[in-house]
Parts: sequence; C-alpha cells; structure tokens
Amino acid sequence: MLNDKIAKLINEQVNKELYSAYLYLDFANYYEQEGLDGFAHWYQVQAQEERDHAMMMRRYLIDNGIRVTFGEIAQPDKALTELSAPLKAGYEHEQYVTSLINNIYAEAFALKDFKTMQFLDWFIKEQGEEEKNAEDMIKKFELYGYDAKGLYALNQELLARVYVPSATGPAM
Ligand code: FEO
Repeated sequence: MLNDKIAKLINEQVNKELYSAYLYLDFANYYEQEGLDGFAHWYQVQAQEERDHAMMMRRYLIDNGIRVTFGEIAQPDKALTELSAPLKAGYEHEQYVTSLINNIYAEAFALKDFKTMQFLDWFIKEQGEEEKNAEDMIKKFELYGYDAKGLYALNQELLARVYVPSATGPAM
C-alpha cells in the first residue's frame, strides 16, 4: 500500500500525462492543417509515448492496491500562431512535467518510500530525454525551418520517427 499523498500525486500525474498526449495531438492537428505531415507524425508518436507514461503510472497504483480515479482532461490551450510555436510550447511543457515528477520524487524521498523512488527513476531519466528532444527540435527549426528546402528536409526527417513502446509486459 502506498502513502495517501504519494498515491494522490501519482494519480494526478496520470491525468497530466493524458493531458500531455492531448496537447501533442493538438500540435499534430495544427501541423496536419499546415501540410507538414512529418511534424504531425512526430507529435502523434509523442502522444503515444505520453499515453504509455499514464498507463505505467496507472499500473503502478493498481499493483499497489490503489483505486485509480480519473478527472477531466483539460483542453489544450497553447496559442499555435506560427510553425515554431508548438516546438517552443512543447519544450516549456516538458520543463513543467519535469517539475511535477521531481515534486513526486521529493515527496517519496521525504517519506523514505524507496519503492516509489525506484519506480520514478525511469521517469526522471525520461524527462531528461524529453527536454533534450524538445530543445533539439527548436534548434533544428531555427537552423533549417525558415528556408523552404530546409523545412521540407526537416519534415521528411521527422516523418521517419518510429514509435517504441515505453514499457512492455505486465507494467502496461
Ligand atoms: Fe510524459 Fe513528455 O513526459
């Protein structure tokens, strides 16, 4: 059984991860409309990963005797006014998610909940990768995105992203 506060925080994080999936699908919708299928694909894969994160947390709660509850998923509200806007909003969002994961980790540490700390280790590492990926997207866009040929090439590169499930087996 988990400490109530830890269980509540992880349950809330399930919702935040599903919101992340919703947000990235919103970015994909925007890019589809702009004719950039590679950018749209990249964010669709990202949304699949976010769903995986939510499912991993849901499973952790269930396996520890917690009744998971679902709240409303907020409407994506980032202003997508130019092609680089989702990239910047995505980076800011990942920094926010990192702060949420760090907060849960800090609570687990304070409660000497070593099991949850070990569970969260995967997410701590993942957030480092997520932030780097988001930052790299901005850098690439700044370098190539303002030239038609460069934008075409970048779109093709992003189209090649392959979805790899975040975890397999009983964890999901
Ligand atoms: Fe679930 Fe993008 O972190």
